[in-house]
Amino acid sequence: MKNRRMHPQIELTEAVAVVAIADPHLPSQQQAHNLARSFNWPLQVFSGHKELLDSGMCDVLVVSSPNMTHFEILMDIITHPKPHHVLVEKPLCTTVAHCAKVIDAAKSRPDMLVQVGLEYRYMPPVAKLMDVVKGGILGQVKMVAIREHRFPFLVKVNNWNRFNCNTGGTLVEKCCHFFDLMRLFASANPVRVMASGAIDVNHKDETYDGKVPDIIDNAYVIVEFENGSRGMLDLCMFAEGSKNEQEISVVGDIGKGEAFVPESIVRWGSRVEGRDGVKTLKAEDDRIKYDGLHHGSSYLEHLQFLSAIRAKGSQAPAVDLHDGLISVAIGVAAQLSIEKGRFVTIEEVME
Ligand SMILES: NC(=O)c1ccc[n+]([C@@H]2O[C@H](COP(=O)([O-])OP(=O)(O)OC[C@H]3O[C@@H](n4cnc5c(N)ncnc54)[C@H](O)[C@@H]3O)[C@@H](O)[C@H]2O)c1
Repeated sequence: MKNRRMHPQIELTEAVAVVAIADPHLPSQQQAHNLARSFNWPLQVFSGHKELLDSGMCDVLVVSSPNMTHFEILMDIITHPKPHHVLVEKPLCTTVAHCAKVIDAAKSRPDMLVQVGLEYRYMPPVAKLMDVVKGGILGQVKMVAIREHRFPFLVKVNNWNRFNCNTGGTLVEKCCHFFDLMRLFASANPVRVMASGAIDVNHKDETYDGKVPDIIDNAYVIVEFENGSRGMLDLCMFAEGSKNEQEISVVGDIGKGEAFVPESIVRWGSRVEGRDGVKTLKAEDDRIKYDGLHHGSSYLEHLQFLSAIRAKGSQAPAVDLHDGLISVAIGVAAQLSIEKGRFVTIEEVME
């Protein structure tokens, strides 16, 4: 965030601009240059995050580098003399130990706000379903089922996302979003996880430096929460023939709610009223001008992050480091459960 001296075309009330990026990859630097030029924005490009930090140019940082780089970059930001507010893309880190170290380090920086990019919370149908649940219409939540049926992992710079050692594993890398949602809907912390999954269809004919990708492309994951509610994830990454990418169902003791993305439909009804009483709503948010890949949630997330920064300490980040840690811990437990063929407790992966 910078003032309008650097970006005269930006109104003072907005006063936010991308002023610098750090990326070691030359084609990515060039893309950033081209994008900035298309908006007529001045942009400083650094080849490493340390140079960017030392430049003192930025007040706020978005860490959107590959998962395995988050830990080192976050630690450098947190230990830098100049305070920077940070939005770090999910997953917070690829291991529970790294998440815990970041949390520890951040305790000594009350001058910094750190938010984790678990942005599925902001998808309009998900947010509406959350309102329904929080409004008590469904009663005490007992079951949260999330189905993600979608296309395979996209190609990333230097193919970092093809290997568990870089991503943390599919159930950490992408499914931390869903474990975060389950925890919110269940309104409780997880206790133990059972999972079954494999790499069955995708990436089998790919090799990188002689190595075949090891990221799983389908799984079922069951999560038990401390209040007795249960979550279930049904992940399939070779399901392009689907109308929706995400289908969420939350069932309480008096009603059931559902959200469908990208149809953006939300439904809810009660056991008493039955099928005839089910309500259907198209969830929209007028603030979204550009849907992007995540149906506007990235934009809403950034608005919320900005508002927390402007509140100067009176507003906590909407998704904090603890949320980031728990979403990773469930993913790590699920990956371990597949490996061991048994339930894995959250306590076990937190040790
Ligand atoms: N919120 C979401 O749903 C969502 C969606 C997609 C990606 N992500 C996350 O965003 C992050 C980036 O993913 P992506 O899809 O943009 O990957 P990408 O490979 O397309 O881009 C990553 C960029 O980071 C650069 N980079 C590599 N090492 C770096 C370093 N040390 N410092 C600075 N830059 C570095 C790469 O050169 C590349 O340009 C990942 O953590 C990913 O999980 C989140």
